Amino acid sequence: MVSHKIENIKLSQKGKNRVDWARQNMPILQSLKRRFSKTLPFREHKISICLHVEAKSAVWVETLMAGGAEVAITGSPGSTQDETAAYMVDKMGVEVFSWRAENYEEHMENARQVLKAGPTIISDNGGDLHFLLGENVDQTQSNSIIGATEETTSGATRLREELPNFNFPTIIINDTMAKRIVENRYGVGISVVDGIMRSTNIMLGGKTVVVIGYGYCGQGIAQRLRGLGAHVTVVDNTPLAQLEAHLEGFKTSTVEKALPNAHFIVTVTGRYHVIQARHFDLMRDGVILCNAGQNQFEMEIDTIYDQAERAREIRPNVEELILPSGKKFFLLARGNSVNLAAGDGNPIEIMDLGLSLQSLSLEFLASRADELVPGPQTVPWEIENSTVKAAISEWVG
Ligand SMILES: NC(=O)c1ccc[n+]([C@@H]2O[C@H](COP(=O)([O-])OP(=O)(O)OC[C@H]3O[C@@H](n4cnc5c(N)ncnc54)[C@H](O)[C@@H]3O)[C@@H](O)[C@H]2O)c1
Repeated sequence: MVSHKIENIKLSQKGKNRVDWARQNMPILQSLKRRFSKTLPFREHKISICLHVEAKSAVWVETLMAGGAEVAITGSPGSTQDETAAYMVDKMGVEVFSWRAENYEEHMENARQVLKAGPTIISDNGGDLHFLLGENVDQTQSNSIIGATEETTSGATRLREELPNFNFPTIIINDTMAKRIVENRYGVGISVVDGIMRSTNIMLGGKTVVVIGYGYCGQGIAQRLRGLGAHVTVVDNTPLAQLEAHLEGFKTSTVEKALPNAHFIVTVTGRYHVIQARHFDLMRDGVILCNAGQNQFEMEIDTIYDQAERAREIRPNVEELILPSGKKFFLLARGNSVNLAAGDGNPIEIMDLGLSLQSLSLEFLASRADELVPGPQTVPWEIENSTVKAAISEWVG
């Protein structure tokens, strides 16, 4: 058995069913898998991954393994499907370090473990693996890495604005318009609404929902919520985003002015502490709060828990927190990405496209990393174009 740290290996059969279902709906990856099994682009490569440990990621990992890769993976707090993790260890031979209830510190320790597995390529989400490599920049760990991918907006921001330079290229999947439009706008738009409805079972029509962050994800969420009859107010600190939201017909406002009317609040900025503990005085009693951004720190989560006098899980993924003033609020999925922690994440077909971009970028790195300059860079246009064409051929016919 490969090394692993997961919830329960006995959940493997349940995981198999989930992965079987996802696989049937991921034809673009299946076609890459057939090609990779002949060309073996990842022979002699170990790929260490940080991405949600769930069925669609398992199908992606199968694709990489068909191409000869050995794989170690960790997920994100709140989003791991324990049964899928069990299946990946038990039947696929993947080193998995992840479980659903892990907290942020445990997540970072798991990320350390996938780096200790000795990767030649890393595939990151939110920049956590790069962050850890940056902490140990002198160590040999990063010397064996020829290249990396980074999945999401938050990781791209960290790599470009906060983290040190690395001596290998990192291809940013989120730089493609294909990912931004298909996955962030449509995928997240649909799945966040799904996560809210599954966890709360509350009608959205007629409710005031404040969406904080009107980037690709926020646009999709705002549109889908409006489609269900919600009154959406958009808060964004970039003037152009405010203007766009206004022209799209949404009410625009500031956090301070918007919060008192909100029945629901959704954060999706990719930035820290957009909702702070001091904002709670402004909110209505019983407000429902959730986050769709990469991590729970969009809300000042530790202070929120510290200040709460009582907390109880009133439904799966719904926590009732009562402040000393007696005011209560409901937090979904402990502030983790609500679409993944309280739902199944983006629709399968959408991730078929997104993870195909990943697969082709990794194939490109495996053969041509030495031709690239070090540092963050965009996905080659040919890769984006061929993936979009594959999606058109599958979805449009
Ligand atoms: N849950 C998921 O499945 C999923 C999928 C893709 C991306 N993401 C994450 O969602 C987040 C947003 O991604 P995106 O692609 O929409 O990013 P984006 O950069 O397109 O948009 C972010 C928006 O937030 C605004 N913003 C930043 N700070 C703000 C603040 N303090 N107050 C108000 N507005 C603020 C920015 O002006 C921008 O318009 C990121 O963390 C990303 O990693 C989550």
